[in-house]
Amino acid sequence: MTTRIARDDPRAIHSRSITVLKPSHALVRKIKRDHPEPAIHGNKVWNSSWLLMDQLKKNPPPEGATLVDLGCGWGPLGIYAAKKLGQHVIAMDADKGVFPYLELHAEINGVTVEPLQCRFEKLGKTRLAGVHTMAGADICFWDELTPVLFKMIRRSLKAGVKRIIIADPGRDPFYQLAEMCEKKFDARVIERTTRKPKKAEADLLIIEAS
Ligand SMILES: C[S@@+](CC[C@H](N)C(=O)[O-])C[C@H]1O[C@@H](n2cnc3c(N)ncnc32)[C@H](O)[C@@H]1O
Repeated sequence: MTTRIARDDPRAIHSRSITVLKPSHALVRKIKRDHPEPAIHGNKVWNSSWLLMDQLKKNPPPEGATLVDLGCGWGPLGIYAAKKLGQHVIAMDADKGVFPYLELHAEINGVTVEPLQCRFEKLGKTRLAGVHTMAGADICFWDELTPVLFKMIRRSLKAGVKRIIIADPGRDPFYQLAEMCEKKFDARVIERTTRKPKKAEADLLIIEAS
């Protein structure tokens, strides 16, 4: 049975037909008490994910295709893709601490996503077979992640992935990644802003199979 979150719950955010919970919500606090805490920033829903959802809506992947939510954290992006775009979603993250939050958010939104504990470094050919889109919000936040993500993108394109989108509020490692991708692949960066559910800006790096 789906747990219902009231429309007027002040500790919930309803936007783009999905519901996410604030860290102060009782259901989130219960997980925090019962499980080890996420250790690589997967401790809330990050804003760039809203702008990435808008981009997926604008240029949607084919219905029923497979989408990997890279560094899914609590899973907002993948949950949106499953609920609104009819995607089969693999929600991957290195940190096992995020999966109870992913499960909770999938449940309150009435969708199923496939959890995968895996590092970007280890995402290999077998897993990438049949994937149409890979999308990740706020995942390039350390210098060491730039080469890791570049190599993962190269492997993904070789494996037949059609489109990769990474959203970021504007950190240096992300711009370095964008520069490397623009040199090597069919890649571009676009700027996006939103006012909902709160004011936010992000750049989206979009890489297409050529
Ligand atoms: C800033 S959070 C963003 C979470 C989510 N995408 C969002 O927008 O709410 C970054 C996420 O990337 C994951 N992550 C960091 N390094 C990773 C790696 N090498 N492989 C896979 N996931 C990683 C973290 O565990 C964390 O959940």
